Amino acid sequence: MKILVINGVNLNMLGKRETELYGSESLSDLQAKLEGLNQDVDLEFFQSNSEEEIINKIHSHKDEKYHCGIFNFGAHTHTNISIRDAILSVNFPFYEVHISNVFAREEFRHTSFFSDIAKGCIVGCGFDGYEFALTKIIRGENGS
Ligand code: DQA
Repeated sequence: MKILVINGVNLNMLGKRETELYGSESLSDLQAKLEGLNQDVDLEFFQSNSEEEIINKIHSHKDEKYHCGIFNFGAHTHTNISIRDAILSVNFPFYEVHISNVFAREEFRHTSFFSDIAKGCIVGCGFDGYEFALTKIIRGENGS
């Protein structure tokens, strides 16, 4: 089972940026946590601040045939239709994750261009949100 984890804009700064919101752990800490959770899944990590690179990575689903994605597009969540269209163009199933509770923040963060096409959304649970999405994917559609 191959799973693609995409972290978008500014998420390379985790552990350094607004630690009161996003915590003191880095992106490599997140990767180590997820990799430690289940050795049987093939996890691919991708972070980019470039819209083009993110879109190309999503398009690679045509050839790579990922089982599912776990996506946190950062601020692009609230603004980016091109990334949404890329997901739709290759029919990429995914969970949307946000570290912070976007609904308890500025109103512009309450809108997501991805939630309605996601299999599920997890917000405000810190890094645990990624772990839960991964667990859910491993359990399968109807797993409990
Ligand atoms: C975020 C929430 C976004 O509003 C913000 O722009 C981010 C991080 C989160 O994980 O909480 O960069 O996606």
